[in-house]
Amino acid sequence: MKPMNFRGRWVLITGASSGLGLEMARLLAKEHGAHIVAVARREDRLLALKAELEGAHGVQVLPLVADLSRPGEAERVHAVAVEGRTVDGVILNAGVTFFGRVLEQPAESFDTMLATNVTSVVRMSQRFAADFVRRGEGALMLVASTAGFAPLPYQATYAATKSFVISFGRGLAHELRKTGVSVTVFAPGGIATEMLSLSGLDRQFKAGDLGIMSADACARIAVEALVRRRELAVPGLLNRFLATTMKLLPHAFIVQRSAALYEGGLLKEPPKP
Ligand SMILES: NC(=O)c1ccc[n+]([C@@H]2O[C@H](COP(=O)([O-])OP(=O)(O)OC[C@H]3O[C@@H](n4cnc5c(N)ncnc54)[C@H](OP(=O)(O)O)[C@@H]3O)[C@@H](O)[C@H]2O)c1
Repeated sequence: MKPMNFRGRWVLITGASSGLGLEMARLLAKEHGAHIVAVARREDRLLALKAELEGAHGVQVLPLVADLSRPGEAERVHAVAVEGRTVDGVILNAGVTFFGRVLEQPAESFDTMLATNVTSVVRMSQRFAADFVRRGEGALMLVASTAGFAPLPYQATYAATKSFVISFGRGLAHELRKTGVSVTVFAPGGIATEMLSLSGLDRQFKAGDLGIMSADACARIAVEALVRRRELAVPGLLNRFLATTMKLLPHAFIVQRSAALYEGGLLKEPPKP
């Protein structure tokens, strides 16, 4: 498939208020000249992004405040985004995690995670991809995680949602392969973002540690994968090695090793609520 040229065209990014989503928005505006539909709950962050990108790069930014864990929000985001504009790229990046034992995850936390990481991704993929298919062009990217390649104790529900995203994205990519529409699954390992600090995982994993990427370095690889229309992209040599290892080694071994990583450190001192 021909690479996408986003200059003067609209790209929608969910989770554009921080971390990976914010850095992808910055890169797409600065280096690709894309207009951005920026979706998240924190309006002040989206307004600051609009001021930053419109001022520095002469692109347009539509801040779209939405809580993707709520019923109907995915459909509303699609309707508002396509009103009076053509969206040619969509990055479904918003996501939340829970770190701890499954038996300790509150029901609301799980419901929010499932709605944000899974349900909204399916609903928005269906709507935007249908538009792309009608026009015979478009690029969709789903942000998964290396956590989705094998079961991950103490982030079990999160890893399961990311497994869903990988499976769903790859299946959808095949269904759309002759339509001119690309579906990229982007599966990073650890990134130094709010997700790492809010979940308490930053007490064990820090920026600069082996395998933990900065959000801007990770965003560069993600945007490249979207533009080049790769089907699956795992950023970083170590993460690619781990992803391959997870395919080759028995899952029982991987589960034991990843559990040991947490059991030795973080679980002895659980994150504060
Ligand atoms: N950090 C990592 O180590 C890591 C590793 C692998 C994969 N990932 C994946 O990368 C993606 C981005 O995460 P990140 O690391 O950049 O974390 P982050 O800094 O916490 O960003 C998460 C983004 O999602 C948005 N979001 C969360 N819940 C939302 C909701 N209900 N409705 C709308 N927006 C919502 C947040 O915005 P608001 O709070 O303003 O709504 C924020 O912009 C996620 O899908 C994550 O699973 C992260």
